[in-house]
Amino acid sequence: MVDHSIEPPRPTLGEIEGIARKAGKILVEGFTRKYFIDLKGEIDLVTEVDREAEKFIVGEIKTKFPGQQIIAEESGEHSLGGEASWYIDPIDGTTNFAHGLPIFAVSIGYAWDGEVQLGVVYNPAQDELFSAEKGKGAWLNGRPIKTAESKELSRSLLVTGFPYDRFTNPDNNLDYFNKFALSVRGIRRLGSAALDLCSVACGRVDGYWEIRLEPWDIAAGVLIAREAGARVSKLFGEEERLLSAPCSVAAANPALHTKMIEVIQVVRQEKQV
Ligand code: IPD
Ligand code: CA
Ligand code: CA
Repeated sequence: MVDHSIEPPRPTLGEIEGIARKAGKILVEGFTRKYFIDLKGEIDLVTEVDREAEKFIVGEIKTKFPGQQIIAEESGEHSLGGEASWYIDPIDGTTNFAHGLPIFAVSIGYAWDGEVQLGVVYNPAQDELFSAEKGKGAWLNGRPIKTAESKELSRSLLVTGFPYDRFTNPDNNLDYFNKFALSVRGIRRLGSAALDLCSVACGRVDGYWEIRLEPWDIAAGVLIAREAGARVSKLFGEEERLLSAPCSVAAANPALHTKMIEVIQVVRQEKQV
């Protein structure tokens, strides 16, 4: 029986930022050298650098916070069972990374009792570090950030992404994309869910939606967006902790979020007819 009142020594945001920065250095050094690339699926890549960065991050957590549960994209689950959990994506944006496009990030989330408490997303190519602590706020390189105030879809810039199984699964986000494309100022596909959520958090884009993500893609980014004032829900608007796969999400300031959900619900009904 787990005693919920006793949390093991909690990491500080500074400690997680330190790990993310060092992992970011591994990414930047890897970006310009030759490395092996493997396929995990038909189009889903993993590079040697993903594995190196993840090994470093997992090693740091195991040393500094022994026994805590870790859910990491490339190596899976470590020390399952505790109430303190880490969600690690060593490179969010691996397709960009492997193609030489410098839009990628290290993403680290720390959760206690099923709720993310601390999140860090670090884009080393831009030296931009997004961070958040539950109930205390969100920051970009130490400065507080907040979402854009746009309330109208017609004046909004959205960002989205597409799942790796889109060739074989007809639920591939193209129907939502088509509907939004005729309602908003613009839609971008940047290739990193973690940075997409951070872009909502700091107001560079107004809203974001995506389907079938994994907890490690979004654990840190969801906290950062929420702490910056975004409403982040499941795709059809339900409130959720968003730590169980598959994670389908919609994020924006509360007024715009309502309008995004209306569009998503229209598409949902059209799909059912
Ligand atoms: C992917 C990116 C991408 C999203 C994919 C994710 P990866 O993560 O976040 O933007 O559209 O669904 O799987 O593979 O680069 O870690
Ligand atoms: Ca990812
Ligand atoms: Ca990844």
